[in-house]
Amino acid sequence: MSRIAYVNGQYLPHANAAVHVEDRGFQFADAVYEVCEIRDGCLVDPTLHFERLERSLRELRIAVPTSRAAMLVVMRRVARANRVHDGSLYIQVSRGRARRDHVFPTPAVRPTVVMTAKSVARAKGEALAEQGIRVITVPDNRWERVDIKSVSLLPNCLAKQAAKEAGAKEAWFVDADGFVTEGSSTNAWIVTRDGRLVTRPAEFGILRGITRTVLLDVADRLGLIVEERAFTPAEAKAAAEAFITAATTLVMPVVSVDGDAVGDGRPGPTALALRQAFHASTERVPL
Ligand code: PDD
Repeated sequence: MSRIAYVNGQYLPHANAAVHVEDRGFQFADAVYEVCEIRDGCLVDPTLHFERLERSLRELRIAVPTSRAAMLVVMRRVARANRVHDGSLYIQVSRGRARRDHVFPTPAVRPTVVMTAKSVARAKGEALAEQGIRVITVPDNRWERVDIKSVSLLPNCLAKQAAKEAGAKEAWFVDADGFVTEGSSTNAWIVTRDGRLVTRPAEFGILRGITRTVLLDVADRLGLIVEERAFTPAEAKAAAEAFITAATTLVMPVVSVDGDAVGDGRPGPTALALRQAFHASTERVPL
Protein backbone atom coordinates (compact mmCIF):
# COMPACT_ATOMS: atom_id res chain seq x y z
CA MET A 1 0.00 0.00 0.00
CA SER A 2 1.37 3.44 -0.89
CA ARG A 3 1.83 5.89 1.95
CA ILE A 4 1.07 9.58 1.69
CA ALA A 5 2.59 12.51 3.59
CA TYR A 6 1.39 16.10 3.70
CA VAL A 7 3.99 18.83 3.21
CA ASN A 8 2.95 22.48 2.93
CA GLY A 9 -0.27 22.01 1.03
CA GLN A 10 0.74 18.93 -0.97
CA TYR A 11 -0.13 15.27 -0.48
CA LEU A 12 3.00 13.43 -1.60
CA PRO A 13 4.16 9.82 -1.84
CA HIS A 14 5.83 9.18 1.51
CA ALA A 15 9.12 8.16 -0.12
CA ASN A 16 9.46 11.52 -1.90
CA ALA A 17 8.07 13.80 0.80
CA ALA A 18 10.73 16.22 2.06
CA VAL A 19 11.36 19.65 3.51
CA HIS A 20 14.10 22.03 2.36
CA VAL A 21 17.67 21.63 3.69
CA GLU A 22 17.40 25.12 5.16
CA ASP A 23 14.19 24.45 7.01
CA ARG A 24 14.70 25.68 10.56
CA GLY A 25 13.21 22.47 11.93
CA PHE A 26 16.08 20.58 10.29
CA GLN A 27 18.78 23.19 11.06
CA PHE A 28 17.88 24.19 14.62
CA ALA A 29 15.08 21.90 15.85
CA ASP A 30 13.08 25.15 15.63
CA ALA A 31 9.78 23.30 15.39
CA VAL A 32 7.00 21.80 17.48
CA TYR A 33 4.95 18.65 17.06
CA GLU A 34 1.95 16.64 18.18
CA VAL A 35 1.13 12.93 18.10
CA CYS A 36 -2.57 12.19 18.09
CA GLU A 37 -4.00 8.71 18.59
CA ILE A 38 -6.26 7.25 15.90
CA ARG A 39 -8.62 4.61 17.24
CA ASP A 40 -11.54 2.86 15.60
CA GLY A 41 -11.34 5.25 12.66
CA CYS A 42 -11.47 8.36 14.88
CA LEU A 43 -8.99 11.05 15.90
CA VAL A 44 -8.72 11.00 19.68
CA ASP A 45 -8.81 14.32 21.57
CA PRO A 46 -7.98 16.61 18.62
CA THR A 47 -9.14 19.70 20.51
CA LEU A 48 -6.67 19.13 23.36
CA HIS A 49 -3.92 18.53 20.81
CA PHE A 50 -4.80 21.78 19.00
CA GLU A 51 -4.71 23.67 22.28
CA ARG A 52 -1.28 22.31 23.16
CA LEU A 53 0.07 22.82 19.63
CA GLU A 54 -1.04 26.46 19.67
CA ARG A 55 0.50 26.94 23.11
CA SER A 56 3.83 25.45 21.95
CA LEU A 57 3.79 27.72 18.88
CA ARG A 58 2.96 30.76 21.01
CA GLU A 59 5.78 30.03 23.48
CA LEU A 60 8.27 29.89 20.57
CA ARG A 61 6.69 32.80 18.67
CA ILE A 62 6.00 30.69 15.59
CA ALA A 63 2.86 31.75 13.69
CA VAL A 64 -0.17 29.45 13.89
CA PRO A 65 -0.19 28.16 10.29
CA THR A 66 -3.93 27.65 9.75
CA SER A 67 -7.26 27.47 11.52
CA ARG A 68 -8.16 24.38 13.53
CA ALA A 69 -10.88 23.59 11.01
CA ALA A 70 -8.39 23.65 8.11
CA MET A 71 -5.92 21.60 10.13
CA LEU A 72 -8.59 19.03 10.88
CA VAL A 73 -9.41 18.67 7.17
CA VAL A 74 -5.76 17.82 6.46
CA MET A 75 -5.48 15.49 9.46
CA ARG A 76 -8.49 13.48 8.36
CA ARG A 77 -7.35 13.37 4.76
CA VAL A 78 -3.84 12.18 5.70
CA ALA A 79 -5.24 9.49 7.99
CA ARG A 80 -7.70 8.33 5.34
CA ALA A 81 -5.13 8.41 2.52
CA ASN A 82 -2.98 6.07 4.61
CA ARG A 83 -5.97 3.87 5.49
CA VAL A 84 -5.29 4.18 9.20
CA HIS A 85 -8.03 2.73 11.37
CA ASP A 86 -5.86 2.34 14.49
CA GLY A 87 -2.54 4.11 14.86
CA SER A 88 -1.30 7.66 15.13
CA LEU A 89 -1.11 10.95 13.32
CA TYR A 90 2.03 13.09 13.49
CA ILE A 91 2.00 16.87 12.97
CA GLN A 92 5.09 19.03 12.82
CA VAL A 93 5.19 22.81 12.42
CA SER A 94 8.57 24.51 12.01
CA ARG A 95 9.33 28.23 11.89
CA GLY A 96 9.90 27.74 8.17
CA ARG A 97 12.63 27.89 5.60
CA ALA A 98 15.25 30.61 5.68
CA ARG A 99 18.98 31.15 5.08
CA ARG A 100 20.80 29.64 8.06
CA ASP A 101 21.02 32.30 10.77
CA HIS A 102 20.26 31.78 14.44
CA VAL A 103 18.00 34.83 14.72
CA PHE A 104 14.43 34.54 13.48
CA PRO A 105 14.02 35.39 9.78
CA THR A 106 12.71 38.89 9.02
CA PRO A 107 10.28 39.34 7.53
CA ALA A 108 8.79 36.17 8.99
CA VAL A 109 8.56 33.19 6.64
CA ARG A 110 5.67 30.78 6.23
CA PRO A 111 5.78 27.97 8.81
CA THR A 112 6.42 24.49 7.40
CA VAL A 113 3.62 22.03 8.11
CA VAL A 114 4.17 18.29 7.82
CA MET A 115 1.75 15.50 8.63
CA THR A 116 2.10 11.73 8.46
CA ALA A 117 -0.09 8.89 9.69
CA LYS A 118 0.74 5.29 10.46
CA SER A 119 -1.13 2.15 11.43
CA VAL A 120 -0.27 0.40 14.68
CA ALA A 121 -1.82 -2.96 15.52
CA ARG A 122 -3.90 -2.54 18.66
CA ALA A 123 -3.27 -6.16 19.65
CA LYS A 124 0.43 -5.39 20.04
CA GLY A 125 -0.23 -2.69 22.64
CA GLU A 126 -2.68 -4.92 24.46
CA ALA A 127 -0.18 -7.79 24.56
CA LEU A 128 2.49 -5.47 25.95
CA ALA A 129 0.09 -4.11 28.58
CA GLU A 130 -0.63 -7.66 29.76
CA GLN A 131 3.09 -8.19 30.26
CA GLY A 132 4.03 -4.73 31.46
CA ILE A 133 7.25 -2.93 30.65
CA ARG A 134 10.59 -2.37 32.35
CA VAL A 135 11.96 1.14 32.84
CA ILE A 136 15.41 2.43 33.72
CA THR A 137 16.29 5.81 35.21
CA VAL A 138 18.69 8.35 33.71
CA PRO A 139 19.72 11.88 34.76
CA ASP A 140 17.44 14.55 33.31
CA ASN A 141 19.84 16.54 31.13
CA ARG A 142 17.22 18.39 29.06
CA TRP A 143 16.64 22.12 28.79
CA GLU A 144 14.17 23.83 31.12
CA ARG A 145 11.35 24.31 28.62
CA VAL A 146 10.26 20.69 28.30
CA ASP A 147 6.70 21.96 28.75
CA ILE A 148 6.97 22.99 25.07
CA LYS A 149 6.46 20.05 22.72
CA SER A 150 9.48 20.91 20.57
CA VAL A 151 11.19 18.48 18.21
CA SER A 152 14.45 19.05 20.08
CA LEU A 153 14.44 15.46 21.36
CA LEU A 154 18.08 14.39 21.34
CA PRO A 155 18.30 13.74 25.13
CA ASN A 156 15.02 11.82 24.84
CA CYS A 157 16.41 9.69 21.98
CA LEU A 158 19.60 8.96 23.94
CA ALA A 159 17.55 7.99 26.99
CA LYS A 160 15.24 5.72 24.98
CA GLN A 161 18.24 4.07 23.33
CA ALA A 162 19.85 3.50 26.76
CA ALA A 163 16.58 1.86 27.85
CA LYS A 164 16.58 -0.40 24.83
CA GLU A 165 20.18 -1.43 25.40
CA ALA A 166 19.29 -2.26 29.02
CA GLY A 167 16.39 -4.46 27.89
CA ALA A 168 13.79 -1.89 28.97
CA LYS A 169 11.09 -0.05 27.03
CA GLU A 170 11.29 3.38 28.65
CA ALA A 171 13.72 5.61 30.53
CA TRP A 172 12.54 7.85 33.35
CA PHE A 173 14.41 11.11 33.71
CA VAL A 174 15.48 11.99 37.27
CA ASP A 175 16.07 15.64 38.22
CA ALA A 176 18.97 17.05 40.26
CA ASP A 177 16.96 16.62 43.48
CA GLY A 178 16.46 12.90 42.83
CA PHE A 179 12.82 13.05 41.67
CA VAL A 180 11.40 11.44 38.56
CA THR A 181 10.32 14.06 36.04
CA GLU A 182 8.85 11.96 33.20
CA GLY A 183 9.71 9.32 30.63
CA SER A 184 11.59 9.99 27.40
CA SER A 185 8.25 10.06 25.55
CA THR A 186 5.70 9.43 28.31
CA ASN A 187 4.49 10.73 31.67
CA ALA A 188 5.26 8.72 34.81
CA TRP A 189 2.84 7.57 37.51
CA ILE A 190 2.77 5.36 40.59
CA VAL A 191 -0.02 3.89 42.69
CA THR A 192 0.78 3.96 46.42
CA ARG A 193 0.16 0.97 48.68
CA ASP A 194 -3.01 2.71 49.91
CA GLY A 195 -4.29 3.15 46.36
CA ARG A 196 -3.56 6.81 45.61
CA LEU A 197 -2.35 7.87 42.17
CA VAL A 198 0.78 10.01 42.16
CA THR A 199 2.10 11.99 39.21
CA ARG A 200 4.32 15.03 38.97
CA PRO A 201 2.59 18.43 38.66
CA ALA A 202 2.67 19.70 35.09
CA GLU A 203 3.75 23.26 35.88
CA PHE A 204 7.47 22.62 35.62
CA GLY A 205 9.85 19.91 34.44
CA ILE A 206 7.48 17.84 32.32
CA LEU A 207 5.30 17.96 29.25
CA ARG A 208 1.62 18.25 30.11
CA GLY A 209 0.56 15.02 28.39
CA ILE A 210 -2.90 14.93 26.86
CA THR A 211 -3.24 11.34 28.06
CA ARG A 212 -2.25 12.54 31.55
CA THR A 213 -4.87 15.32 31.45
CA VAL A 214 -7.65 12.97 30.36
CA LEU A 215 -6.55 10.30 32.83
CA LEU A 216 -6.96 12.77 35.71
CA ASP A 217 -10.65 12.94 34.69
CA VAL A 218 -10.89 9.18 34.40
CA ALA A 219 -9.39 8.78 37.88
CA ASP A 220 -11.92 11.25 39.22
CA ARG A 221 -14.75 9.34 37.55
CA LEU A 222 -13.50 6.11 39.12
CA GLY A 223 -13.32 7.79 42.53
CA LEU A 224 -9.54 7.49 42.81
CA ILE A 225 -7.52 9.95 44.86
CA VAL A 226 -4.77 11.72 42.91
CA GLU A 227 -1.75 13.46 44.39
CA GLU A 228 0.07 15.73 41.96
CA ARG A 229 3.55 15.64 43.45
CA ALA A 230 6.99 14.40 42.53
CA PHE A 231 8.17 10.92 43.54
CA THR A 232 11.60 9.26 43.65
CA PRO A 233 12.70 6.03 41.94
CA ALA A 234 12.90 4.47 45.46
CA GLU A 235 9.25 5.37 46.08
CA ALA A 236 8.31 3.87 42.71
CA LYS A 237 10.10 0.63 43.58
CA ALA A 238 8.24 0.44 46.89
CA ALA A 239 4.87 1.37 45.32
CA ALA A 240 1.99 -1.01 44.65
CA GLU A 241 2.04 -0.19 40.93
CA ALA A 242 3.63 2.07 38.38
CA PHE A 243 2.68 3.01 34.84
CA ILE A 244 3.37 5.41 32.01
CA THR A 245 1.01 7.36 29.76
CA ALA A 246 1.19 8.76 26.23
CA ALA A 247 -0.99 8.90 23.12
CA THR A 248 1.10 6.06 21.71
CA THR A 249 1.32 3.75 24.76
CA LEU A 250 -1.96 4.75 26.47
CA VAL A 251 -1.83 3.53 30.09
CA MET A 252 1.08 1.07 30.12
CA PRO A 253 1.92 -0.83 33.31
CA VAL A 254 5.53 -0.70 34.55
CA VAL A 255 6.71 -3.89 36.24
CA SER A 256 10.27 -2.95 37.16
CA VAL A 257 12.42 0.13 37.71
CA ASP A 258 16.19 -0.27 37.27
CA GLY A 259 15.74 -4.03 37.54
CA ASP A 260 13.80 -3.93 40.84
CA ALA A 261 10.23 -5.28 40.69
CA VAL A 262 7.38 -2.87 41.32
CA GLY A 263 4.65 -4.47 43.47
CA ASP A 264 4.50 -8.15 42.64
CA GLY A 265 6.32 -7.59 39.34
CA ARG A 266 3.15 -7.88 37.28
CA PRO A 267 0.81 -5.28 35.76
CA GLY A 268 -1.35 -3.86 38.54
CA PRO A 269 -5.15 -3.80 38.67
CA THR A 270 -5.39 0.00 38.89
CA ALA A 271 -3.28 0.56 35.79
CA LEU A 272 -5.24 -2.04 33.85
CA ALA A 273 -8.58 -0.58 35.00
CA LEU A 274 -7.46 2.91 33.96
CA ARG A 275 -6.34 1.58 30.58
CA GLN A 276 -9.71 -0.05 30.12
CA ALA A 277 -11.70 3.01 31.19
CA PHE A 278 -9.60 5.58 29.34
CA HIS A 279 -11.43 5.97 26.03
CA ALA A 280 -14.81 6.61 27.60
CA SER A 281 -13.47 10.06 28.58
CA THR A 282 -11.95 11.07 25.24
CA GLU A 283 -13.21 13.26 22.41
CA ARG A 284 -13.47 11.29 19.17
CA VAL A 285 -13.76 12.80 15.71
CA PRO A 286 -14.46 10.36 12.86
CA LEU A 287 -12.01 10.38 9.96
N1 PDD B 1 5.33 11.78 23.28
N2 PDD B 1 6.28 13.44 27.93
C1 PDD B 1 7.04 13.46 26.82
C2 PDD B 1 8.47 13.89 26.93
C3 PDD B 1 6.48 13.09 25.58
O1 PDD B 1 7.23 13.13 24.47
C4 PDD B 1 5.12 12.66 25.52
C5 PDD B 1 4.47 12.27 24.24
C6 PDD B 1 4.39 12.64 26.72
C7 PDD B 1 2.94 12.22 26.75
O2 PDD B 1 2.12 13.15 26.08
P1 PDD B 1 0.72 12.71 25.42
O3 PDD B 1 -0.04 12.04 26.48
O4 PDD B 1 0.12 13.99 24.99
O5 PDD B 1 1.06 11.78 24.28
C8 PDD B 1 4.99 13.04 27.90
C9 PDD B 1 4.85 11.47 21.94
C10 PDD B 1 3.81 10.41 21.93
C11 PDD B 1 6.03 11.18 21.05
O6 PDD B 1 7.03 11.90 21.19
O7 PDD B 1 5.98 10.27 20.22
